[in-house]
Amino acid sequence: MGRKLIVGAALLAGPILAGAFAQEWRKTVRVEVYLPEGARLFFEGREARPDWPMSRFESPPLPPGKYLYTITAIIPGPDGPRTVTRRLDVRPGDFESIDLREPGKRPTADVEYEPTPQKVVDSLLRLARITDKDVVWDLGCGDGRIPVTAAERYGCKASGFDIDPERVKDSLANVRQHGVERLVTIERRDIFALDLSKGPTVVTLYLLPSLNARLLPRLRKLPPGSRVVSIAHRMADIRPDERIVVDTELGEFDVYLWRAETLRGD
Ligand SMILES: C[S@@+](CC[C@H](N)C(=O)[O-])C[C@H]1O[C@@H](n2cnc3c(N)ncnc32)[C@H](O)[C@@H]1O
Repeated sequence: MGRKLIVGAALLAGPILAGAFAQEWRKTVRVEVYLPEGARLFFEGREARPDWPMSRFESPPLPPGKYLYTITAIIPGPDGPRTVTRRLDVRPGDFESIDLREPGKRPTADVEYEPTPQKVVDSLLRLARITDKDVVWDLGCGDGRIPVTAAERYGCKASGFDIDPERVKDSLANVRQHGVERLVTIERRDIFALDLSKGPTVVTLYLLPSLNARLLPRLRKLPPGSRVVSIAHRMADIRPDERIVVDTELGEFDVYLWRAETLRGD
């Protein structure tokens, strides 16, 4: 499919239009941008009026396709302003988050904590057809609800990894509260430094499309028969083997499943 470029004005267009644009198959792209105070922000070369620390943008509903946004910030500093540019490769339905603050002034987590509703956790574990022989790893485990539920319901081993010490603390408390210490381990780790080739048979993700894409080379090393489940976000342009939609009080959640063989293109 050809790459289409949409102009910044489309992304910056405020409320979603009803009527002709609001067709079922059109979805929006949502982007949040974190900026240091005083920075200027440009979408496709057009200046936007940013909010600090974070500005949110939503496109009008778009036909399916590939869209590339160029986001530029001019950031003031003691040695004069510097220009930072990010290219964002998105599809309708995507949510992306980019952080243009100085490395020392932004959280170490690549995506903010947001728990998956328990109903979605239950559904994704059913979708992955977990058995007591599986080993489930949740990359970015938040309060540990996915490994805890997997161990409690299916009696399998499970691990959660999170870079944020607060989330690790929450997860460990959750493990104790549910009495699954024998089956569940929680570690403070950067998920981009994990070796996925030997440990897990099921990997769960609730991250961002760009982070899923970054993990893909590691996910391709999963042993045959392993499954990867992603809440809400696609995996590059690899068609999932299965997809469900879970209706919750917070809205509908897409859940996608790929077999390791599919990710490798076997
Ligand atoms: C959207 S939350 C999902 C939490 C949990 N998996 C769930 O589904 O309820 C994403 C989590 O990833 C963690 N995270 C972000 N970047 C990370 C990284 N590089 N390494 C490890 N954890 C990370 C965040 O701290 C956050 O807890």
